Amino acid sequence: MDIKDIKNRAEKDIKSAQNINDLDKVFQKYLGKKGQLTQVLHLLKDLPEEEKKKTGKIANQFKKEFLIKTENQKKNFSDTDSYNPKSEWIDVTLPGKKISTGHLNPITQVKREVEDIFERLGFSVVEGPEVESEKYNFDALNIPKNHPARDMWDTFWIKYQEKEKLLLRTHTSPVQIRYMEKHNPPLRIVAPGRVFRYEATDASHEINFYHIEGLMIDKNISIANFKAIIERFFQMFFKKSVKIRLRPSYFPFTEPSFEVDIGCLVCGGKGCSVCSQRGWLEMAGAGMVHPKVFKAVKLNPKNWQGFAFGLGLDRLTMMKYKIDDVRLLYGGDLKFLQQF
Ligand code: DAH
Repeated sequence: MDIKDIKNRAEKDIKSAQNINDLDKVFQKYLGKKGQLTQVLHLLKDLPEEEKKKTGKIANQFKKEFLIKTENQKKNFSDTDSYNPKSEWIDVTLPGKKISTGHLNPITQVKREVEDIFERLGFSVVEGPEVESEKYNFDALNIPKNHPARDMWDTFWIKYQEKEKLLLRTHTSPVQIRYMEKHNPPLRIVAPGRVFRYEATDASHEINFYHIEGLMIDKNISIANFKAIIERFFQMFFKKSVKIRLRPSYFPFTEPSFEVDIGCLVCGGKGCSVCSQRGWLEMAGAGMVHPKVFKAVKLNPKNWQGFAFGLGLDRLTMMKYKIDDVRLLYGGDLKFLQQF
């Protein structure tokens, strides 16, 4: 075996390689598993001591140079040198593929818009947990155990319980309690979030939906303040003048309590299918904070007054975009969602 001979051929082969593929073949020919140089290196161990030293030195030197030279030659090629125009063909004149981007669900868009409006009206945005305790969801809101008022909220109870009974919050009102426990009035907050009800679903009911809770506490807050704020809110949200009316109602955590209706935006109050011919649409529950709620958070009801309200974000979304089935908002159907 003549190492010099192999070396000369290897150098020639490296030089004549035209691309990465050629170079890879050269590498295999000399240093692959059965490569010519590999074989020489294998045979070294069988040579007599003297010969082994001499040939070993030459062979290893050759190997080093071979690696350097192939590496250097590689730098002359770009990745596309192995490009074979016959097998890989790209029509560069074709229009590119668009990468589709997602976007926010209409409820999230509306939630952000509503937060933004209330912030401009001086309210802070706060949040509370979706898994609540019985105390915050009911007790502190003056909804005692075994009281019929609890039936207003069909509840998902959580089986795993430690000391307290846990549930999926049925409304955002517990955030009122959590906030007032930690912050002293005067205060103005809104608390948006997901709420859950154990109900059969239909065009206007889902087992989970979105509320935004509002709370304003100060020394001299009256229903007139509430009316002014909520009217302003609806005008800013629907970007037109909106008629409102307060209807007497009942909630355990407010006294007096009322429902807030707006004049139907579709028929202008004449009566249509959207407002069930009433001319009015129910948008929120509200009222003046009950003295028992103040007591639950250790505030003196003689010193503080305020209003609270709960607005349905799904309702607002449906009104804004004229959607007639709440289930569409949660269905994940792209044909529907991509319209927003
Ligand atoms: N939490 C009530 C519900 O889920 C809505 C509500 C009514 C919230 C009156 C309030 C309120 O803050 O004052 O039906």
